[in-house]
Amino acid sequence: MNYRHAFHAGNFADVHKHVVLLGVIARLTKKPTPLFFLDTHAGRGLYDLHSDDAARGDEWRSGVGRLHEAKFADPDLATYFKIAATASGKTARQFREYAGSPLLALGALRDTDRIVFVEQQPPEARALERSLPRRRGISVIAGDGYAALKTYLPPKENRGLVLIDPPYEAEDEFAAVEKALKFGLERWPNGVFAIWYPIKAGGEYRRFHASLQQSGLRKLLLLDLNLRPVDSPTGLNGSGMLIANPPWQLDVGMKQTLDELLGLLSPDKAGSVRVEWLVGE
Ligand SMILES: C[S@@+](CC[C@H](N)C(=O)[O-])C[C@H]1O[C@@H](n2cnc3c(N)ncnc32)[C@H](O)[C@@H]1O
Repeated sequence: MNYRHAFHAGNFADVHKHVVLLGVIARLTKKPTPLFFLDTHAGRGLYDLHSDDAARGDEWRSGVGRLHEAKFADPDLATYFKIAATASGKTARQFREYAGSPLLALGALRDTDRIVFVEQQPPEARALERSLPRRRGISVIAGDGYAALKTYLPPKENRGLVLIDPPYEAEDEFAAVEKALKFGLERWPNGVFAIWYPIKAGGEYRRFHASLQQSGLRKLLLLDLNLRPVDSPTGLNGSGMLIANPPWQLDVGMKQTLDELLGLLSPDKAGSVRVEWLVGE
């Protein structure tokens, strides 16, 4: 496995995923009781947007690059951008680096929350460790994120969130994610789970949805953002987020957020937002 997230860091899918991630954390942190956060496929802390890897596709220019001059009406978008700018160490609007999910989540979580980051590639895990503040309650594990579900769930806090964000390079990744979600919810029925998935032609994500609808799981919310019609023949058409056990009214809040985000990321208006219960209560 030689997946390099640096190619994609800060692209439209990263922005969409991170806006939703921080939207979920903002709602969970309204109550003062401590949370547990597990990031099963954490990546590194910071990605240099001008490295050779990032510059090859320049994907960030049509992602976070489109937000540099934006004014945000929606509070969740404003919070996301503030945390992303602060995490990259810049207050200027043009930042040279983009923070991954670990540093963004840390920007929104409290010192009383317990956090576990898992990353399989040792160099990435070491880079992540170097970028994190040294304090109790934050661990980096170099290993398999799926196996970590068994180790860490259910957490003693009994409140919190698991982010599952694999690279989808393996053919059976959708199946692995589905198995992980079922296992995670069996272990921790009231945990919140956020799963990222790619929306491409070929319908793999539709089979994933259909299989989850048959699974007996409840309270599964889709918060997708498509930049192009979902069956456009090549590339990543959309970025999918599935939330199990979403916080109260996340669907209502995120509809407004994602509509505004779509306008900023897709100036040609070819895209769409899908906020829909795949399975309700
Ligand atoms: C899409 S990237 C993660 C991006 C990160 N979550 C973010 O939002 O900034 C996927 C990461 O998963 C790592 N990875 C792949 N298979 C893994 C596994 N089985 N367990 C843990 N990490 C894995 C890859 O090395 C890569 O860094």
